[in-house]
Amino acid sequence: MEAAEVVAKLIDLPGGQALLDAASGDESVWLVGGAVRDLMLGRTPEELDVVIDGPLDRVLARLGGEAERHDRFGTATVRLADGRIDLASARSEQYALPGALPDVSPASIDDDLQRRDFTINAIAIRLVDAELKAHDDALADLAAGRIRVLHSGSFVNDPTRLWRAARYSTRLGFELDEESAALAALASPGAVSGERLGHELRLSLREDSPTAVLSAVEALNPGALIEGFDPNPARLAEASALLGSAGRQDLLTLAACCQGVELQLLTRWLDHLQFTASERDLVTASSRWVTASPLRSAQSASQIAEAAAGAPLEAVALCGGENARQWLTELRHVTLEIDGDDLIAAGVPPGPAIGIGLKRALARTLDRDISGRDEQLQAALEGAEGPS
Ligand code: CTP
Repeated sequence: MEAAEVVAKLIDLPGGQALLDAASGDESVWLVGGAVRDLMLGRTPEELDVVIDGPLDRVLARLGGEAERHDRFGTATVRLADGRIDLASARSEQYALPGALPDVSPASIDDDLQRRDFTINAIAIRLVDAELKAHDDALADLAAGRIRVLHSGSFVNDPTRLWRAARYSTRLGFELDEESAALAALASPGAVSGERLGHELRLSLREDSPTAVLSAVEALNPGALIEGFDPNPARLAEASALLGSAGRQDLLTLAACCQGVELQLLTRWLDHLQFTASERDLVTASSRWVTASPLRSAQSASQIAEAAAGAPLEAVALCGGENARQWLTELRHVTLEIDGDDLIAAGVPPGPAIGIGLKRALARTLDRDISGRDEQLQAALEGAEGPS
């Protein structure tokens, strides 16, 4: 697709018209990176990336919307009613330490293209006149489906680019050129902060084919993943279908991949990657559930509930099988028509007996032994009196 066609396409994209209006008569506004790459490939970009050859203020004022500025990097994110635009002042980057965030200084648009990860992202189009600037290999690599770093220090400066390469190659069906793949194998993923690595892992889990991305990461540099991590776990497809939209598909995938990771190591890794405590607990618990769960051997609806109640839905889905299906689709929605107040009104003193009685009534309701309010109250009263 020609540069002028890329600019014309913007009108159809969320935020595109606002961007074109803001760029009108202004030679400093360039569409860049993933947005140009995707449009040239005939794909729809997630957001619009824009570089301003100079300060952001004038363009931000013309764009309106809600702007969040990150002054350390000279960048801003603008949320408009119909889309998101990421803006940055043209800059060059210096890496004081491998894996650290770079120090940035103002630079030309040409320098800005040189600081980027891959040739296919080093393309910019000026909106006012559709002038194209690109790395020498960018257009040929885009046409050939090739991912190529701009220089040999790229992965050393920023090992998160490993993850980016894996996502692009899976999503776009591209391949790394031989030299870039060799450089990726030499990168030190451990040089990057846990927070940044966690961000890359989260983005990967959100892709359409997360296990393909994770397999690509492993193939590029096995050190990027933890010992015991299996990027292609068995039974994930079944679990994913069972869970549907009832739980977190991203965490289900992660738990499935971590079945073979030693528990303490897994807990420490997830903490290091800045997963929240509840996400960490869900993943660790679910990853253990795959094997030896009483859910698999449960013989009745109440036994299924006994085994599954309180467990993350993701864990139940990973356990798989007919009992998991029954819990996820049906049994977990079964509730009583009575509550503790009904038992108190019937003369049961407040205390543990109430919970025991209600549990007993629910178990018998699940097993279709009883139904309706009256039978449930009767069963709960019997249960509250003692074991039957
Ligand atoms: N970039 C880079 N090195 C990084 C991160 C980003 O060179 N570690 C550059 C790339 O040129 C990229 C641009 O910054 O195109 C914007 O980053 P991002 O939005 O993450 O890239 P996209 O390619 O737009 O990502 P996606 O398609 O996944 O949204």
